[in-house]
Amino acid sequence: MHKIPLFKIHTDQADIDAVTLVIKSGRNWAIGPEIEEFEKALADYVGAKYSMVFNSGTSALHALMLAYGFGPGDEIIVPSFTFIATSNAPLFVGAKPVFAEIEESTFGLDPADIERKITKNTKAIIVIHYAGNPCLIEQIKIIADKHKLILIEDAAGSLGSSVGNKKIGMFGDSAMFSFCGPKVIATGEGGAVVTNNKDIYEKMKLVRSHGRLETENYFSATGYMDYICLGYNLRMSSMTAALGLSQLKKINTLIALRQKNAEYLNKELSTIKQISLPMARENNVNIYQLYTIYVKGGQAQRDNLKKYLNDKGVAAKIYFEPIHITSFYQTLGHKKGDLPRTEKISSEVLTLPMYPDLTKEEMDYIVQEINTFFKKL
Ligand SMILES: Cc1ncc(COP(=O)(O)O)c(C=O)c1O
Repeated sequence: MHKIPLFKIHTDQADIDAVTLVIKSGRNWAIGPEIEEFEKALADYVGAKYSMVFNSGTSALHALMLAYGFGPGDEIIVPSFTFIATSNAPLFVGAKPVFAEIEESTFGLDPADIERKITKNTKAIIVIHYAGNPCLIEQIKIIADKHKLILIEDAAGSLGSSVGNKKIGMFGDSAMFSFCGPKVIATGEGGAVVTNNKDIYEKMKLVRSHGRLETENYFSATGYMDYICLGYNLRMSSMTAALGLSQLKKINTLIALRQKNAEYLNKELSTIKQISLPMARENNVNIYQLYTIYVKGGQAQRDNLKKYLNDKGVAAKIYFEPIHITSFYQTLGHKKGDLPRTEKISSEVLTLPMYPDLTKEEMDYIVQEINTFFKKL
């Protein structure tokens, strides 16, 4: 067991009270009023017209793929340096994920490589904002508009990040957030979509709940509701939404604590020449969902540092290994060497512990051990 974990969830009595209230009510544990309250608060926070919550970020992406009507023959450009759900989402509906390279400044998609990967079958681009740091989203938006492609932001870990005074999630036609454990606000499992696109919102509503035309709470209503298309059950529970709403009320504090910790680590680690540190581009707000350093000495050095820190009780992990070299994607025809820049970056990054309640003592210990590792070389 690591002494310093990769993440800890910040929670308080208000979270417990919020969930308890729903439980004690003894009713509406599904489709309760907390769902719409959470959705409204999320939409307001990001600045979107519509928001819809789901039982996971992956379900939210799945619903988006169905709502846009992507299917066989469609190509969707995605990064390989991401969590596997980003590229699995097109596969869920029979569409083809097409991998593009990432660039060094944000570890997000490289606009030039996106353009190279566009074909007559390309329908959409799904970007990610790595670790809470905005990608080159403004340049990518220009490309999407020029080629009439749908731009979707997989902003799983980037609730609260921004470019200028516009929140991440408001650059694409729609965006997804995740609320699983290590994210900025956590509900155990959970996700959401924000969009200004009414048509997509309406379609997602059907997809989320069996294709049912819900005029009121299905569980307490006694009248007949028609089913008008194929749908799933991708709904979030009322307890989860109550927790999400309570967490969202704290988001400014949660982000400020992460930023303060990242600033401290950036300052204390800045003298180590063998690594580079996670910095936001000018005008961008990084909310440091992860704190990822870049080890300049190559993969062996990175792997040695990872092992050294793990042995010293510091959880350090690789986010992300490229998707295209997983066994599953190799069965789809992808192979090592397909994306040299992605593979190089992925072989040299190392994610260190980062969470709101990370203490100065813990950070000093991490810094001291990294210093000791490089001094021993
Ligand atoms: C970039 C990215 N996309 C998608 C997901 C999937 O979200 P969830 O775990 O809520 O299904 C995650 C979550 O870890 C993620 O980091």
